[in-house]
Amino acid sequence: MKPLWIAIAAALAVAAGAAFLVNGRSGPEASGRVALGRAVYQDNCANCHGAKLEGQPDWRNPGVSGRFPAPPHDETGHTWHHSDKHLLAIITEGTAAVVGGGYQSDMPGFGEALTSAEIEAVLDYIKSTWPQREAEYQRRISNR
Ligand code: HEC
Repeated sequence: MKPLWIAIAAALAVAAGAAFLVNGRSGPEASGRVALGRAVYQDNCANCHGAKLEGQPDWRNPGVSGRFPAPPHDETGHTWHHSDKHLLAIITEGTAAVVGGGYQSDMPGFGEALTSAEIEAVLDYIKSTWPQREAEYQRRISNR
């Protein structure tokens, strides 16, 4: 007869595998990414986009420099109007590089300062704060 502990270990391994399959990206792994993203956001983005993602005052109008202030990342802004691909490009390369044509912007690229995992995590954190309607809209345009 097999010792009991082998049977128990086997049962636990099966249960862990099943839990992993069921949870997928929405499980503990995803919430770990959101926590990482929150820390990355507070260290690298909050000074311009606000600790509560509220953006800079009068963000819809260019300042005296002719450049736009930092918009909010909550549902009052337009971050959720853009696909994952577009947002990841902006965060990695900066707005001027993505828009092109000599466009000037105060949004720097973070491709050097952050890893791609940190950039994906910070976007996951921003997305985790959106109400259902905005989150669903953005998911739909990202999957087109
Ligand atoms: C030095 C200030 C500054 C910092 C730091 C900064 N941003 Fe920005 N960000 C801006 C400005 C200004 C804009 C608007 C640029 C424009 O429209 O020309 C912007 C725009 C964006 C956009 C596009 C939003 C949209 O709706 O089009 C995203 C996404 C973004 N920032 C993410 C981030 C993330 C993530 C970080 C941190 C990793 C970050 N930003 C750090 C200033 C900053």
